[in-house]
Amino acid sequence: MGKVTMTVNGRQMTAEAEGRTLLSTWLREGLGLTGTHVGCDTSQCGACVVHVDGQPVKSCTALAMDLDGAEVRTIEGMANADGSLSAIQQAFQDHHGLQCGFCTPGMVMAAAALLKENPKPTEAEVRHYLEGNICRCTGYHNIVKAVLAASGQDVSGLGIAAE
Ligand code: FES
Ligand code: FES
Repeated sequence: MGKVTMTVNGRQMTAEAEGRTLLSTWLREGLGLTGTHVGCDTSQCGACVVHVDGQPVKSCTALAMDLDGAEVRTIEGMANADGSLSAIQQAFQDHHGLQCGFCTPGMVMAAAALLKENPKPTEAEVRHYLEGNICRCTGYHNIVKAVLAASGQDVSGLGIAAE
């Protein structure tokens, strides 16, 4: 057991961790940041994706102790400074990219990482990038549509969404 400090959503935060404490557990139980969801704990669903030093990471695959000093961004840090939804979050809402919402934090964090490295992805590139993020509800179509819309592309021809 020891103290771990990271810069989380721009603020230095410290909480206890055991050697086996996962980053997902540290964020949720140590810091109370429960926006990061845990769907499987076995690296399969992607609900727990956060950014560590700018890179998307499944937080159930990383040990908190190993990340002392890291810079982490979670879904709680994605809104704009005035509290309004970020472009990606707004696009998920506008294009019905969620139903139960369980996968959504991980989807938003993964989508943000994709758009940072590839600001105008094709539909195929979005689908490929989000392969590690499982959604049981939506059939993915509107998630892909939301990500394309967030990148500023015209999605009016993509159909299906119940708008
Ligand atoms: S909880 Fe981490 S991948 Fe499912
Ligand atoms: S919206 Fe329910 S799992 Fe994706």
